[in-house]
Amino acid sequence: MVEDSAAVNKDACGTKPLKKYPDVLRNVVLALVMISCVYIFSICLNQKGFMMIPNMMKMEVMDETCRYPSISPSDLPLIHFPQPTTYSRNECACTPVRYFAILSMQRSGSGWFETLLNSHINISSNGEIFSVKDRRSNISTIIATLDKVYNLDWCSSASKNECTGAVGFKWMLNQGLIQNYEGILEYFKNRGVSSIFLFRRNLLRRWVSVLANSHDRNVKQLNGTHKAHVHSRHEADILAIYKPTIDVRKLIPDMSQTSKLTSDSLQLFNNTRHIVLYYEDLIHNRTKVMDVLDFLRMPRRQLTSRHVKIHTKPLSDHIENWDMVSKALKGTEFESFLDSDYGK
Ligand SMILES: *[C@@H]1O[C@H](CO)[C@@H](O)[C@H](O)[C@H]1NC(C)=O
Ligand SMILES: *[C@@H]1O[C@H](CO)[C@@H](O)[C@H](O)[C@H]1NC(C)=O
Ligand SMILES: *[C@@H]1O[C@H](CO)[C@@H](O)[C@H](O)[C@H]1NC(C)=O
Ligand SMILES: *[C@@H]1O[C@H](CO)[C@@H](O)[C@H](O)[C@H]1NC(C)=O
Ligand SMILES: *[C@@H]1O[C@H](CO)[C@@H](O)[C@H](O)[C@H]1NC(C)=O
Repeated sequence: MVEDSAAVNKDACGTKPLKKYPDVLRNVVLALVMISCVYIFSICLNQKGFMMIPNMMKMEVMDETCRYPSISPSDLPLIHFPQPTTYSRNECACTPVRYFAILSMQRSGSGWFETLLNSHINISSNGEIFSVKDRRSNISTIIATLDKVYNLDWCSSASKNECTGAVGFKWMLNQGLIQNYEGILEYFKNRGVSSIFLFRRNLLRRWVSVLANSHDRNVKQLNGTHKAHVHSRHEADILAIYKPTIDVRKLIPDMSQTSKLTSDSLQLFNNTRHIVLYYEDLIHNRTKVMDVLDFLRMPRRQLTSRHVKIHTKPLSDHIENWDMVSKALKGTEFESFLDSDYGK
């Protein structure tokens, strides 16, 4: 299936190449770095006793001092006081952190939804981290990745670091989530991870968006750059000019499969703490997104996004072989997708 490379997800910090510098300068910098490493290492050796204070002890003390009387007892398993290895939480060390995961599918509004969440001062959602295959090779790599995110050690443009109150990322159902569900369910239950399901009701509109995005990946309509999401009406209109021709023999099986994936995932994760959202509901009712803040127990605030919707017209204007598609869907369970509108 299609894989979005999420805009927020720029991997670990501090790995930017030094390509701005000429070679000589780079060599000098490298030499300096090596010398400092040797120096620091020698100091570490001398202070072995100091370095070996067990981490466990520190953690217990921290938990003991961070008691929050205002948190209801049933919520206690949901809060955490992470101690990132890469920095100190300083004055926010006792700000409780809640863990979440947005479980969704490609082209279902999760990119837009995530920018809304990230506009909240207390929320960090780190993008589509499992779009990188190595991280989802097996349950061990998945858990190592989750640990890093939830310990606030994941570095992306969405990180709010020491004062984050809710931390998460978005996870597409076809990115190892269903294959490894047993281990993941156990992790979610043990660590108190809350699931935010985000689906799109109209699977035909979703399919148009999948095809158009895949077309742009090849053709790069915006001055030679592929964009999965855009920030201006002008760019959106350019992308919307392309009208996909839909293979009607594949359409119904694909939509059936997508709808089965949705219900299977809901069933599998039914015993975890979760909320189910639909893209269309969020579009039509802007206060609906406050349900998510309540769910995450974060203060209600106005949320904003710069994303601009690409396909805004009736579907007949966005599909090249509209007659064929509408004939194929008439009388099926998917017929209602033909005439739903965005009304805006
Ligand atoms: C999981 O995958 C990683 C990286 O692909 C590999 O190094 C490791 O041995 C695998 N672990 C298991 C238990 O299969
Ligand atoms: C939200 O962030 C502000 C500023 O960092 C902080 O004072 C407040 O305690 C945070 N609230 C929650 C619920 O995390
Ligand atoms: C493409 O580049 C030109 C010149 O830089 C600019 O005027 C135009 O707006 C760009 N078009 C898009 C769709 O970004
Ligand atoms: C989830 O569990 C509830 C309560 O046990 C049940 O009513 C509901 O049908 C279940 N939903 C799914 C999708 O399995
Ligand atoms: C909009 O969403 C809010 C929060 O879920 C709900 O209380 C309200 O009834 C909804 N409004 C409409 C018109 O559906």
